Amino acid sequence: MANDLTDPTEVAPVDAVLASFARTPDPRLREILTRLVRHLHAFVVDIEPTMAEWQAAIDFLTSTGHACTDRRQEFILLSDVLGVSTLVESVNDRRPDPAPAAAAAGQDRTESTVLGPFHVVSSPPRALGDTIDLTGGGTPCLVTGEVRTTDGQPLPGATLDVWQADDQGFYDVQQPEEQPAGNGRGLFTADADGRFRFRSVVPRHYPIPTDGPVGDLLRATGRHANRPAHIHFIVAAEGHRSLTTQIYVADSPYIDSDAVFAVKRRLVREVETVHDPAAAARHGLPSPFRQLRFDFVLEPAEEAGA
Ligand SMILES: [Fe+2]
Repeated sequence: MANDLTDPTEVAPVDAVLASFARTPDPRLREILTRLVRHLHAFVVDIEPTMAEWQAAIDFLTSTGHACTDRRQEFILLSDVLGVSTLVESVNDRRPDPAPAAAAAGQDRTESTVLGPFHVVSSPPRALGDTIDLTGGGTPCLVTGEVRTTDGQPLPGATLDVWQADDQGFYDVQQPEEQPAGNGRGLFTADADGRFRFRSVVPRHYPIPTDGPVGDLLRATGRHANRPAHIHFIVAAEGHRSLTTQIYVADSPYIDSDAVFAVKRRLVREVETVHDPAAAARHGLPSPFRQLRFDFVLEPAEEAGA
């Protein structure tokens, strides 16, 4: 007689597997494995894969591992396109709703989003007003704003680690032969009023790598590989929780269909066109020029991650 997975007199495989973890000393590891096995077995019962489909899954995961090198992490990319990276980030970024008065005053903390694969350990320190565009391509853009607390107080000396793709949609580390190291990157320190400014180019949307198994997955499902234009930031200030986030360009293609599901509505900004010749001259920009403004609000460290 065939095994009947619904027969209460049979010991279902899931129960035997769960029992095998009963003596796991680390309670968190036991909890994770128990829930993983429950979900995984329920998934298999739900979809009833053929042996060929099971083998295809094994082959896909194997090739995903083979695609990983010390400069490429295909499993993270897989996590990204399945929305898991953003979900993990969001789960760890949950907070109680802000007080209505703080929310109305615009002092709610800035939302975080995924780090992404193109951060480098140390961005080159630059002075306020410097440009991070070392190649002179693209549409010049002034990026300005302030860093403040959830109480509305400025954070002088806050640091802003910035990185972005160039006007062709590539990071410096992707094109070491064509872009100087540090192109599109800078480490800035906010002034005595918590304000920052730097010059750059309007970033461009770009595709995630598609020459590996994740690219196969996207093609098999008719999905595009593009991320909308954005600038990455890590904003830090003493006594405050560091913020890793991205600011998105409002009119960028793919703003509503990010391949890695990382766009948050409140992180989207217009890149304005500024008709102010005096300001253009002051910042060393042509007139009119483009400007992206964003204020970062950091929460006190003691409220973080409790
Ligand atoms: Fe990026």
